[in-house]
Amino acid sequence: MSLAVIVLAAGLGTRMKSETPKVLHPLLGKPIINHVLDAVTPLNPAKTIVVVNPQGETVRTALAGRNITFAVQKKMKGTGDAVRAAARFLRTYSGTVLIVNGDTPLLAAESLRRFVKLHAVRRESVSLLSFLADPPHEYGRILRKDGQVVGIVENRDATAEQLPIREVNSGVYAMKSEALALLKRIRINVSKGEYYLTDIVSIAVRQGLKVGAHLIGSAGEYAGINTREDLCAAGLSLRRSIASGWMLNGVTIMDRDSVFIDPAAQIGRDTIIYPGVHIEGKTVVGDHCVIYPNCRISNCTIGNAVTIKDSTVMEDAVISDHASVGPFAHIRPATLIGEKAKIGNFVEIKKSHIGTGSKASHLSYIGDAEVGAGVNIGAGTITCNYDGLNKHATVIEDGVFIGSDTQLVAPVTVGKGAYVGAGSTITKDVPPLALGLSRTSQINIEGWVPRHAPRNRRKKGR
Ligand code: UD1
Ligand code: CA
Repeated sequence: MSLAVIVLAAGLGTRMKSETPKVLHPLLGKPIINHVLDAVTPLNPAKTIVVVNPQGETVRTALAGRNITFAVQKKMKGTGDAVRAAARFLRTYSGTVLIVNGDTPLLAAESLRRFVKLHAVRRESVSLLSFLADPPHEYGRILRKDGQVVGIVENRDATAEQLPIREVNSGVYAMKSEALALLKRIRINVSKGEYYLTDIVSIAVRQGLKVGAHLIGSAGEYAGINTREDLCAAGLSLRRSIASGWMLNGVTIMDRDSVFIDPAAQIGRDTIIYPGVHIEGKTVVGDHCVIYPNCRISNCTIGNAVTIKDSTVMEDAVISDHASVGPFAHIRPATLIGEKAKIGNFVEIKKSHIGTGSKASHLSYIGDAEVGAGVNIGAGTITCNYDGLNKHATVIEDGVFIGSDTQLVAPVTVGKGAYVGAGSTITKDVPPLALGLSRTSQINIEGWVPRHAPRNRRKKGR
């Protein structure tokens, strides 16, 4: 049986109070609508139609590269009208049509699959996926008579008797393509001035067609995002389930509500994650690592037994086994930190290779540098890699000792085993095993203070 999917995403999302279309608000690293599409893609639909509004350019751009037909709903006249806009692309289509709201990002592919199967097995013209919500919030209430579904009433239109009904509409429907013809029978709802897709249920019932409502999956899957409060709740539920998965796999997570772990990330056993840690993109973290509070790690590869101390930011970098980074370090793209290396507080590293066991423990900027093994970089050392026009490389060979507060004006090389005296501005290469020094020699002027320093200082000095 072939399957066509319609995703409704033309709504204005007014309740979000946002300039961004609702379905593009990010949730766990990707837009809401991408979550919905990722749930329907495993069902291998022959056609996927996304209904957008005339300002939906940003939605199209966000979904570029996916095999999607965009249907434009000219005026926001409700969900029934939105499906009609999509149905124009299905005139010659025969098979099952699965309709989902673009604002229900927690949909699970498995539940959709079961639902579509049940729809086919039961030979229903119109099937809808319902769930039990307590309280029923603003979801449409499922009306049943003698157990058989007869209609859906929206929260705003429900009578005092209907309001307490806990079986509600998920916004997921499966229909035979022929049932799309019923769309034109939907009458405008006077209270809201919209054509409700939900009315298709009572219309089909009245036509004597077979209709069913199925309670499949868990209520959490069908949460619709209408407000920022809903977005926050959906994010929390996703983060919790991802964190639970990693805990089952042997990762310690101290506060699962405060950590963010991208679904694409990997974390090794016996790694400990403190509160407030964000692990983004395709980051891979090895075994036995400790990631202290408030670190953000994006698209990085981290070896085993690595320590990342508090409030460190790392992007597109590789950290080798037993290295230690932070607190308050900034590791920028194309950086490779070698085994057992130590990067300390307030150190920024960009596009550099730090060799095995090398250390930059305090207050440094290292950019476009090739640092060998066993190097010690003193506090406050800066690679001056930019001349205002181009970036230049600094090479620091194995075993070098760079004294504190050194400026290395690139391009420059400090040869193997050399020393650089503290406070130097190094503009020329330092040969291996040499001492590079470029500071003026110190002079002491005896008795200067009583002669020249201001009166108040003179007293204190004594
Ligand atoms: C809808 C259902 C409700 C159900 C709930 C599930 C209707 C009338 N009500 O309510 O029974 O419990 O979903 O989450 O269908 N959209 C368009 N064009 C429009 C209006 C909406 O494409 O003119 C899209 C929206 O972008 C959204 C979806 O349809 O993705 C649902 O619209 P929304 O306004 O959020 O409906 P709900 O009030 O949540
Ligand atoms: Ca909604």
